[in-house]
Amino acid sequence: MDCEPRLFHKTKHGSIYHTDALDYLATCKVESVDLVMTSPPFGLVRKKEYGNVDAGDYVDWFKAFAKEFKRVLKPKGSLVIDIGGAWVPGQPSRSLYQYELVIMLCRELGFHLAQEFFWWSPSKLPSPAEWVTVRRIRVKDAVNCVWWLSPTPWPKASNRRVRAPYSEAMLGLLKNGYQPKLRPSGHDIGAKFSIDNGAAIPPNLIAIPNTESNTYYLRSCRDRGLRVHPARFPADLPEFFIRMLTDQGDLVMDPFAGSCVTGEVAERLRRRWVCVELVEEYLKGALARFQKPGRETQAELFAGNSGRDARGTFYKVYHPGALWNGTDEEPLPDDGGYSRRMPRKRVVK
Ligand SMILES: C[S@@+](CC[C@H](N)C(=O)[O-])C[C@H]1O[C@@H](n2cnc3c(N)ncnc32)[C@H](O)[C@@H]1O
Repeated sequence: MDCEPRLFHKTKHGSIYHTDALDYLATCKVESVDLVMTSPPFGLVRKKEYGNVDAGDYVDWFKAFAKEFKRVLKPKGSLVIDIGGAWVPGQPSRSLYQYELVIMLCRELGFHLAQEFFWWSPSKLPSPAEWVTVRRIRVKDAVNCVWWLSPTPWPKASNRRVRAPYSEAMLGLLKNGYQPKLRPSGHDIGAKFSIDNGAAIPPNLIAIPNTESNTYYLRSCRDRGLRVHPARFPADLPEFFIRMLTDQGDLVMDPFAGSCVTGEVAERLRRRWVCVELVEEYLKGALARFQKPGRETQAELFAGNSGRDARGTFYKVYHPGALWNGTDEEPLPDDGGYSRRMPRKRVVK
């Protein structure tokens, strides 16, 4: 690139650049970034308005960016990639692209997979309709993979930063006591299990609905006639990783920043940050995140989210057997759903 990337906006802790992430990365110093937290354009079959790369070419496309991430990350830094799945065009089977991606990152570029996370959005609608609601041969796709990688097997991290409240069952156990014993699985649950540590260690399933409906960002885009970014992640997702993997003053980068959710969270958590985005209109919308009068309350952010219980803390996950009644409802389609015919109802004699 012949000239400096265009600085679009500056805040107390961060900067937004309107440019191609590859051009921006080329200007970055070696080992200068603590966390790359991003949601790249997914290799979706149906293209989104900002032009996704096809699943097959995705890994090659991503490699150029990933080499730069490796170069600019500090040795104990982390790369966190939120990536949705995709269907093979015209058939009810899944693309392997996000798995091919993580294998390439580890095998070819030398990243270590610190842990795989799954972001479950309880509010996801059933799709694709043809397989899920019409032929009824697949279930709702409601999780994104979130790959946490690092140049080292020992990235800077602490799960104490992201502890979860104890479940009702665990609270009962802490109150009523627990008899140490060997579980059928062979796990020896000792007396330490009943020590109250104040909070639980969270699992790698992160439940966050994507139901933002009346935030300052949305209202501001509407008022200014700007397109709302169509694929935002909820602020809690980058917040989880920024808290777990960085300290105040560390540098967080989102090279595919969209509406700059990562920047908004990093600013609030007093991390230094850089957001980079190709589409200027998304950045014009993103400015609202840094100009709003005060922090939005959880109640505003989650308005309309019926998945949360009254205390706003837990989501209920149904037990798979909740509706099983000992019989099969209807015969399975012989052809695996190939024809659009609906399965016949079983005649009960
Ligand atoms: C999935 S979106 C990110 C959304 C963001 N996490 C948010 O919550 O608003 C991916 C973004 O990457 C941008 N993008 C695609 N290729 C890019 C590139 N080469 N450099 C910078 N941004 C790019 C797209 O315009 C899109 O806004």
